[in-house]
Amino acid sequence: KYKRNYFMPPVPCTDWVNKEYIDHPPIWCSVDLRDGNQALIIPMSLEEKIDYFKYLVDVGFKEIEVGFPAASETEYEFLRTLIEQDLIPDDVTIQVLTQAREHIIKKTFEALEGCKHSIVHLYNSTSRQQREQVFKKSKEEILQLAVDGAKMLNDLSKETPGNFQFEYSPESFTGTEVDYACDVCNAVLDVWQPTAENKVIINLPVTVELSLPHVYASQIEYMSKHLKYRDNVILSLHPHNDRGCGVADTELGLLAGADRVEGTLFGNGERTGNVDIITLALNMYTHGVDPKLDFSNLPELCEAYERDTRMHVYERQPYSGALVFAAFSGSHQDAIAKGMKMARESEDHHWDVPYLTINPEDLGRQYDKDVIRINSQSGKGGIGFILEHNYGFNLPKKMRDHMRNLVKNVSDHGHRELQPEEVYEIFNDHYVNK
Ligand code: KIV
Ligand code: ZN
Repeated sequence: KYKRNYFMPPVPCTDWVNKEYIDHPPIWCSVDLRDGNQALIIPMSLEEKIDYFKYLVDVGFKEIEVGFPAASETEYEFLRTLIEQDLIPDDVTIQVLTQAREHIIKKTFEALEGCKHSIVHLYNSTSRQQREQVFKKSKEEILQLAVDGAKMLNDLSKETPGNFQFEYSPESFTGTEVDYACDVCNAVLDVWQPTAENKVIINLPVTVELSLPHVYASQIEYMSKHLKYRDNVILSLHPHNDRGCGVADTELGLLAGADRVEGTLFGNGERTGNVDIITLALNMYTHGVDPKLDFSNLPELCEAYERDTRMHVYERQPYSGALVFAAFSGSHQDAIAKGMKMARESEDHHWDVPYLTINPEDLGRQYDKDVIRINSQSGKGGIGFILEHNYGFNLPKKMRDHMRNLVKNVSDHGHRELQPEEVYEIFNDHYVNK
């Protein structure tokens, strides 16, 4: 087993960098079963949700948003099944979404009866667009809506047995004036009065990605500095990916002071998706930080995702895509084969291989199927690697040159990729059975 690569070029840290994030993972919350599910062409069935929930638990999520139980019968039934069939491990907290309306909040608490640990996630939209066009309410009225909802959560949590933590999201935060968003959050915090024993989560969604990532990071820094009760507040990020920068938003947001991330596996979610937690976690891993999520069998997770959501994992999706470690071209194959040889022979087996930021085997991928792939672009390094790695033949240089020409010829004429067995067959035909 290779150790992961601990090498990272020195980075100048600016003053606002939250150095905690450089060494520690944030709190992860999966919203696959709520935000991810609500964006599917065919939402998951009860059985599919249960199957997927088990995978999320196995990956190591300790906080899982399971739905909006007051909004749909399936979501209500799903939560009841998790509770009644005792499917929630003791160290996993269930999160549910609710709007700031009395009958919805009541139904939410009803759905949670018997749940040992839960986060009740209250949201209302605060952006200028939504205030003016959708709700036709003033800033004061929207703030009051949040405060009224927060009070209802206080009252109903006292009547329902269980351990409740509260979360508030000013939905469409990125389209909201930041000082006003801060006033709304502070008004909610005044109602909830967070303590060290019962911290409150303030979640700041990039409901729609509207700006460059550093703008979001500046908004997070502002909130982190101006929120009341900051020591007892868990500052959470919830980026969507409309401009394709969800990962950058999150990483900069964490550097700017956030403590927690809501996202999904493979970036499923509304429109262009929620931020992909696999990418975030494995970006940390490549820097030598244990993300405390287990992606050591990514191919199996991909299969479960494709089966339960009917979505497809894009071939070039970072870390998870079928082609993200593949090297077809001769020069890349040569460099990888040499790097891997050095890694094998090095004393501490550290991972420092050109073109591969991570050891694909750490994610359950295979060198011969996922990394060195053979077509007409391939070189003698790649062909030599396949023959040595799979069949134990260490070819001399001249033979490698010859084999390269033979393989190139077959692949060129067939206009297709060759499997390792076919490379071996060519070798056999020309050198062994001749
Ligand atoms: O994207 C969003 O704003 C949401 C909220 C409900 C948190 O999903
Ligand atoms: Zn969302």
